[in-house]
Amino acid sequence: MTVNPYRFCVAPMMDWTDRHCRFFHRLLTRRARIYTEMITTAAVLRGDRARLLAYDPGEHPLGLQLGGSDPRELAECARIAADFGYDEINLNVGCPSDRVQEGRFGACLMAEPALVGDCVAAMAAAVPIPVTVKCRIGIDAQDPEEALEALTRGVEQAGVAALIVHARKAWLEGLSPRENRDIPPLDYDRVYRLKAAHPGLTVVLNGGITDLDLAAAHLAHVDGVMMGRAAYQEPWRLLAVDSALFDAAAPFATPRAAAEALGPYIERELVRGTRLSAITRHVLGLFRGVPGARAFRRHLATDAVKPGADISTYRAALDLVLDMDLQPVRSAAA
Ligand SMILES: Cc1cc2nc3c(=O)[nH]c(=O)nc-3n(C[C@H](O)[C@H](O)[C@H](O)COP(=O)(O)O)c2cc1C
Repeated sequence: MTVNPYRFCVAPMMDWTDRHCRFFHRLLTRRARIYTEMITTAAVLRGDRARLLAYDPGEHPLGLQLGGSDPRELAECARIAADFGYDEINLNVGCPSDRVQEGRFGACLMAEPALVGDCVAAMAAAVPIPVTVKCRIGIDAQDPEEALEALTRGVEQAGVAALIVHARKAWLEGLSPRENRDIPPLDYDRVYRLKAAHPGLTVVLNGGITDLDLAAAHLAHVDGVMMGRAAYQEPWRLLAVDSALFDAAAPFATPRAAAEALGPYIERELVRGTRLSAITRHVLGLFRGVPGARAFRRHLATDAVKPGADISTYRAALDLVLDMDLQPVRSAAA
């Protein structure tokens, strides 16, 4: 039996899911789908492409999230991304920021389902890798029944491999991007109904999934779940994903063992000139309920930002944490 690759995904998050974060998350779960931050077509086509699209081979399977609305430019970016070795292209139809609205992409594309279909068709024709879309259930005064259905019909016909739905509207007038992640109410039933109406389409639910029990409950209604803030702020949750949702062994028996496995990556990156804190900022929430978790966080927050901070700073922080896990996970390393 082939496992649905979208069963558990870590959300694309600007300024958070950079390549260091993704490498770290991949240590915690081998099975989750992970995504880059959104990168605009303009940046890919006219920016420092080698830097923007760089990733570590250890991150696979990895999706590149694109922001744009010009089918030809998106197809060109998809080709470039496929050449870089990305496993999937995801189109952002959910970001509500002003910058994105000025560029006529992100969530405002919920109002242009035919254009989104054209974008997906152009990308799908250009590359052999899956093309997916991440959207909202609607924007502003749209009726989510109609808006989500129209978008879905368009992208399904265009050959989308999966539709990831953040189960709330985006209100483009009057709310900040941050407020747009909390204030418009979640409507999981709308996404369940979408899956029931499109049984052949892979539907992934996103929004407000704070633990793996909730994730498993949603999986009774949809094909996959995507976790954002809870995965980033409490990365220890990711260490249980492979055993809880894929019936596979966890990569490490304890968060501490995973943290130690990050050491060689940190050393490699420091040699390349990366600052220690650029990596360790993603690791601060790794320990929960473990003696020393707070001291670990505090040590890194104060010392990893100092000039000259190096691997010994990281090791000293780790030495403050007891190697134990209050909820052991079944592990390949055990
Ligand atoms: C800091 C931050 C940055 C985000 N950046 C993106 C982004 O680049 N692209 C995107 O599609 N969604 C972005 N999102 C939204 C998340 O992908 C996700 O849809 C949202 O946080 C809801 O999921 P959650 O409740 O599990 O966090 C971002 C969210 C956060 C917190």
